[in-house]
Amino acid sequence: MGDIYKVSGPLVIGDNLDRPMLNEIVKIGKKNLFGEIIRIFQNKAMIQVYEPTEGLKPGDNITQTGEMFQVELGPGMLKNVFDGIQRPLEGNSIFLEHGFLFHSLDREKKWDFQPSKKIKKGDILKGGEIIGMIQETNTTDHKILVPPDIKGELVFFEKQGSYNVDKVVARIKTRTKIEDIKLYHKWPVRVPRPYNLKTRPEIPLRTGLRVIDFFFPAAQGGTIAIPGGFGTGKTQLIFNLIKWSDADVLIYIGCGERGNEVITVLEEISHLVIKGELLDERTIYIINTSNMPVAARTSGIFSGITIAEYFRDQGKKVAILADSITRWAEAMREISNRIGDFPGEEGYPTYLSSEIGNFFERAGNVVTLSGNKGSITTIGSISLYGSDFSDPVAQASMKVASCLWALDPNLAYVRHYPAINRNVSYSKHILFLRKYWEKYGNWYEYYHEFLNLFGKIDELEKLTSVMGKDMLAEDDQFLLEFNELFTELFLKQSALVIEDAHRDPIEQVKMAELLLTYYHRGKDALKKGISLEEISNKEIHSKLIKLKTLRKNKYIEQIDELINELIFVKKND
Ligand SMILES: Nc1ncnc2c1ncn2[C@@H]1O[C@H](COP(=O)(O)OP(=O)(O)OP(=O)(O)O)[C@@H](O)[C@H]1O
Ligand SMILES: [Mg+2]
Repeated sequence: MGDIYKVSGPLVIGDNLDRPMLNEIVKIGKKNLFGEIIRIFQNKAMIQVYEPTEGLKPGDNITQTGEMFQVELGPGMLKNVFDGIQRPLEGNSIFLEHGFLFHSLDREKKWDFQPSKKIKKGDILKGGEIIGMIQETNTTDHKILVPPDIKGELVFFEKQGSYNVDKVVARIKTRTKIEDIKLYHKWPVRVPRPYNLKTRPEIPLRTGLRVIDFFFPAAQGGTIAIPGGFGTGKTQLIFNLIKWSDADVLIYIGCGERGNEVITVLEEISHLVIKGELLDERTIYIINTSNMPVAARTSGIFSGITIAEYFRDQGKKVAILADSITRWAEAMREISNRIGDFPGEEGYPTYLSSEIGNFFERAGNVVTLSGNKGSITTIGSISLYGSDFSDPVAQASMKVASCLWALDPNLAYVRHYPAINRNVSYSKHILFLRKYWEKYGNWYEYYHEFLNLFGKIDELEKLTSVMGKDMLAEDDQFLLEFNELFTELFLKQSALVIEDAHRDPIEQVKMAELLLTYYHRGKDALKKGISLEEISNKEIHSKLIKLKTLRKNKYIEQIDELINELIFVKKND
């Protein structure tokens, strides 16, 4: 047992510790506050404390546990709200009881355990193998796994029944001892869980947002960074992804945002019904608001990704959404400054980039230890000052992000939502997803056609800013008018208008077809001497704009009708 030498904000310097280990968890003071050793020097250790440190004083006891920080993985996480060290938060309260003694998973609650029919006593089981199932919520079945680091003969297997998470449902004889397998196991958050194989991305994480799915699509298993200035719509976009992305399990990490905002998000999400299912049933919330201890913010990210890996190991598609990476980085900065580390860029620790990498790189598509396919898609927002992409958090994230959805304050200012800047954003998944999109028509062809047009549009816009629109040739003027229509109909999509908020891939491709048909027929008509006024007349435009809020059942049909109608003829013909 050691004692406190000094208290400094969220840090405590411990003395007289017995062979302290890096990342070892310790209990501090009379209240047994939760702490983690983050530096060891001579005979002292620097400890970050995951709770308010008021009341601690030199001489108070420190008890070592000999363990790293681990999360509990088992049924009872879905629909639940935890803080950064996986303490359950009561109801939607974000204020915590102090203390070390807590269980992440409810010990009283009973679950219906269905043992797997594929295994029997005497079988040799490997880590990651599925031994049974619990229907945890209406939407989500929870597979019970042999912990990844255990292998041996099944010497006891419990029958079907209603048990709490502490129940031993199997015993495995390893080379050295007999291991009890319960309905949950623990795993250290800093250690990525093993898998068999990483595989290529091939299925998109559909968002229902045209500008993203069509131009900057992310694959399941990808890494997505959402940088943007203050109020550009980062949270709204993440919210949209929670609502519409087709993941089996969602993990929302509210990291360092304002408490009241987070509560609003929680309340909204927990009541949402999407495609007939309550979203809550497949969502886990990890919350560390700006008024909660800074150290817990640094661990919420790793608790979240470890929980994500656990569901991936069950063969599920997981999406993890962190809002925001910047607040997490700021928490790291605060701790590292207090330790007195040599500061890197803008005072962030020199290990910032590798920490962000450690988080994002745990995403991916895998073949699990039990031979199933699972994936983690990792999404993080980044707060920028204006559009300053030299920001160290943005730079570190861009190194590992397979997609960048950059939000532009100038677009947000004119209420162009989602405020995606198409010149800065990118997706490295276009080619991987080509095959998937083939079943929805000519996406790949249209995609390239639009890219070509974007190039011309950008040039023309530069020109007109100098010499005005009237000096342009008629077909260039038409292209600029077309761009306005295209922006309104395709790029803009309000999250707040229910009919507009989400479009399926088939609807997106159909809309692209309509717009390109309009463009080509318009250009041909110009060649035939039909005037620009006749082509871009208000009547046609208003018909097109009405499509925005058209309900799903009429959408495709109506677009097909419009495609047939769009014939430009000379008035006196
Ligand atoms: N897709 C959208 N559709 C409609 N309105 C939107 C959309 N995105 C953002 N907004 C509007 O912009 C406001 C600010 O968005 P949001 O809170 O998501 O920004 P933020 O980038 O997360 O801000 P902060 O920097 O404070 O975290 C929203 O309250 C909403 O009014
Ligand atoms: Mg926000």
